[in-house]
Amino acid sequence: MKETSPEHSRVEMTQIVLPQHTNALGTIFGGVVLSWVDIAAAICAQKHCKKTVVTASIDAMNFLAPIHLGWIVYIKAKVNYTSRTSCEVGIEVSAENPQSSEYHHTATAYVTMVAIDSYARPTAIPALTPQTEEEKKIFEEAKLRRETRLKNIPRPNRRHSDF
Ligand SMILES: CC(C)(COP(=O)(O)OP(=O)(O)OC[C@H]1O[C@@H](n2cnc3c(N)ncnc32)[C@H](O)[C@@H]1OP(=O)(O)O)[C@@H](O)C(=O)NCCC(=O)NCCS
Repeated sequence: MKETSPEHSRVEMTQIVLPQHTNALGTIFGGVVLSWVDIAAAICAQKHCKKTVVTASIDAMNFLAPIHLGWIVYIKAKVNYTSRTSCEVGIEVSAENPQSSEYHHTATAYVTMVAIDSYARPTAIPALTPQTEEEKKIFEEAKLRRETRLKNIPRPNRRHSDF
């Protein structure tokens, strides 16, 4: 398998929902899912880039079904696209009730990770080499998403009173 293929850096992380992850309804906090998404994306991007990475953005995420206390959560991460110093990592979150095997796809996320050097400056990463027709399609779709994403980055240094 090529070291720069999406398959080489793919990650599957498994978690169990514990009491400290849940709200008063006994379902998981969105922020906990986000932190697991961020960790899986960082591991995946670092495997591909072989460098330290930071999270530049997480696209809008929708939580499609509740995840209950005691359920198993699967977070799958794969590099979809690379440009000079950044990559898009695609994430699928799903959850399973281990007692009934009830299973839901609960979220999709697109995370942009940027590789940084020892001065915390963006640094070049290896180009992704999609192998299959499906991976090539995903690569082209991610390229379009990146164009939209970059157009919508908020300008920095907004005054506090703007909010
Ligand atoms: C992400 C970060 C390194 C970008 O630094 P920068 O000086 O703006 O760098 P550049 O403008 O040269 O952009 C570098 C790359 O990041 C991408 N990028 C920058 N901001 C981005 C954003 N908000 N969303 C997606 N991609 C972004 C650029 O497109 C570029 O990609 P490319 O080289 O593949 O074309 C910098 O903003 C940073 O350190 N942010 C804080 C990161 C962090 O701490 N994350 C943890 C949560 S707070």
